[in-house]
Amino acid sequence: MSDRQKFIDSLLGKMTLQEKVGQLNLYNGTWEFTGPVPEDDDSQRKSENIKRGLVGGMLNVLTAAGTREAQHLAVAHSRLGIPLLFGYDVIHGYKTMAPIPLAQAASWDPQVARKCAKLAALEASASGINWTFAPMIDITRDPRWGRMMEGPGEDPYLGSVMAEAWVRGFQGDDLSRTDTIAACAKHFAAYGFSEAGRDYNTVDIGHSTLYNIVLPPFKAAARADVATFMNGFNELNGIPVTGSEFLQRQILKESWQWEGFVVSDWASIAEMITHGYARDLQDAAKKALSAGCDMDMESKAYEKHLDQLVVEGRMDQTLLDDAVRRILQVKYDLGLFKDPYRYCDPQREQSSILTGENLAVSREAARKSIVLLKNENQLLPLPKNEIKIGVIGSLAQDKDIPLGSWRAQAEQNSAVSLLEGLKALTGPENIRFAEGYKLTRGDRSFLYELDMVEEDESGFDEAVEMAQNCDLVVMAMGEDCWQTGEGRSQTDIGLKGSQTALLSRILAVNQKVVVIMMSGRSLAITEVAEAVPALLQVWHLGSEAGHAMAEVIFGDYNPSGKLPVSFPRHGGQVPVYYNHKNTGRPTTNPHDDGMVFWSHYTDCENSPLFPFGYGLSYSKFEYADFQLSADRIRSGESIKATVKLKNSGPFDGEEVVQLYIRDHVASVTRPVKELKDFQKVFLVAGQEQTITFEISEETLCFYDNQGNLICEPGEFTIMVGGCSLQLLKQMLSYEVV
Ligand code: NOJ
Repeated sequence: MSDRQKFIDSLLGKMTLQEKVGQLNLYNGTWEFTGPVPEDDDSQRKSENIKRGLVGGMLNVLTAAGTREAQHLAVAHSRLGIPLLFGYDVIHGYKTMAPIPLAQAASWDPQVARKCAKLAALEASASGINWTFAPMIDITRDPRWGRMMEGPGEDPYLGSVMAEAWVRGFQGDDLSRTDTIAACAKHFAAYGFSEAGRDYNTVDIGHSTLYNIVLPPFKAAARADVATFMNGFNELNGIPVTGSEFLQRQILKESWQWEGFVVSDWASIAEMITHGYARDLQDAAKKALSAGCDMDMESKAYEKHLDQLVVEGRMDQTLLDDAVRRILQVKYDLGLFKDPYRYCDPQREQSSILTGENLAVSREAARKSIVLLKNENQLLPLPKNEIKIGVIGSLAQDKDIPLGSWRAQAEQNSAVSLLEGLKALTGPENIRFAEGYKLTRGDRSFLYELDMVEEDESGFDEAVEMAQNCDLVVMAMGEDCWQTGEGRSQTDIGLKGSQTALLSRILAVNQKVVVIMMSGRSLAITEVAEAVPALLQVWHLGSEAGHAMAEVIFGDYNPSGKLPVSFPRHGGQVPVYYNHKNTGRPTTNPHDDGMVFWSHYTDCENSPLFPFGYGLSYSKFEYADFQLSADRIRSGESIKATVKLKNSGPFDGEEVVQLYIRDHVASVTRPVKELKDFQKVFLVAGQEQTITFEISEETLCFYDNQGNLICEPGEFTIMVGGCSLQLLKQMLSYEVV
């Protein structure tokens, strides 16, 4: 028996029923721990409960001093002195903001994701936090959903690679180090498939999508030993996931043998009543714990009802013990029983947050997250001198929006703006600025909805005049970060306000326009993309946004990002994603030429504007000589796929080489393409390299509708290239012997 198990067994043996239930309660910190506790509010009750050992953890309690004070209530006053967990949404940074997770995924570089998570853990842990509610690894195909910004995009393989990298970044190799924190894979599961992209909405998907698209990143997180999981607000096929025994017990804890604990989402246990799944809070408590939800975030369902349910014999005590054990294990692994104050070090808090080193990590990630979508006649990179650049757009001077949604403790307006970045790199004398359009107004905070500025054209004339007198225009367009994130879904994924109207006016006087597109989702930007010669997708890049954008614009860094989501031609095309099924009528029948009976729209092409995996470089990468070491593969064997990659352009640069498969006939239909592997490769100008992938049985597998991973004999197309729509192909057959 391990020391951990011995320790926890002995502790469990000493705990009363109330103390056990207590470990399952997660309280929100609504009061200032560093100041006096107000007598007349709920906080008084909360602190009394902590002192009685009836609380397992807190969220939103911050700072070394604040967490120390809260921890002291638990450790010094409660009978058994069990320390608290301190959880917080540290999604892409604590004070130093890294790019939003969707942007990190666009780097297609797990090292970037890992370093960003490591940085977030370093800063959060210095401020008393020992548990983050991240990574969010919900695959989504719907940019209307505001939370697309928080996750890895549309693909389960890229999502799995990112999930593992984020978990390892937050947790390091050793959870007991004081600069690592427990991670939380969320939201289990299928939250990204909310109907019509409306947040918190119903999810109804088939098993094939669940097993093949939704679950793989969660499985990868579980395999990377993520300490905790969070369930979600949504129902899945009629069962709220918070009460889903199928997901939490059968799949996560039994099939995947995962040993961490599951926390509910905020009040999601109580919301099972509203869903129409639980009669009352007691019923909700019973259903949630039975289903495997170990900790209750802010429903107060466990606190109010679990002990009674156990005493009356209506709740199996072993399920309660199992939940408590899982929570205590995480506390043990964090080293909290050895030293409950190990994350509460004001000195470290002073010295390790927002340092130059941290900003450098953020900047590196930011430049690697930028995707070059269009670059006619090599307009980019721009020369640094002898060019008069007109910068346009309120987004260009904005120092807040680039911080992104879910920004933890970032100071408002603390990002480097595009304008600042450009001036820093080329010298202010080359840059002129006109605001041109205004984007949003109203209370710019996490909690409230924005007022969109509609058609304000008062700044147009000034911007047009400036554009006329400049060699070239850099125009920032896109969306406010508060148009994305939780509770911020939109029906219209086009550009708001008067941005496009201004762009037309600018183009009428100066066609050399570089558009810098800031967003937290894939926007429908066909009109812009067709009209301008150069387009960079920059997401919301974090604290160092402006510097990173300027480095790419002036060619100090050659862009290497690729889209982690398809960009639709039109909002009405959503969901549009690369790994779709073929349908029975994918094209016009040659005999019925001109007829309408095939799967299409009459007013828009089926293909996306920019496909998944797409992204240009200032250099040119050529693929040739794609070969398989054999054209058949038997069970247990593996073969090699090789392709020659040449950087035939004038710049050194990186390329993401992507490997896809298509399984032509299967007992459950397979998508037209599935990403199975990728490598990010650096080649100096002129260099050629052979890239090798291994293909084994595992590469060819899929999940059947019972959740079994299977591999069926037959014909496969193996594809390789720099984007999901432009690929070299070879046939491979798979035989079972
Ligand atoms: C609700 C969100 O869905 C979840 O992701 C977050 O971690 C919790 N609130 C806590 O803030």
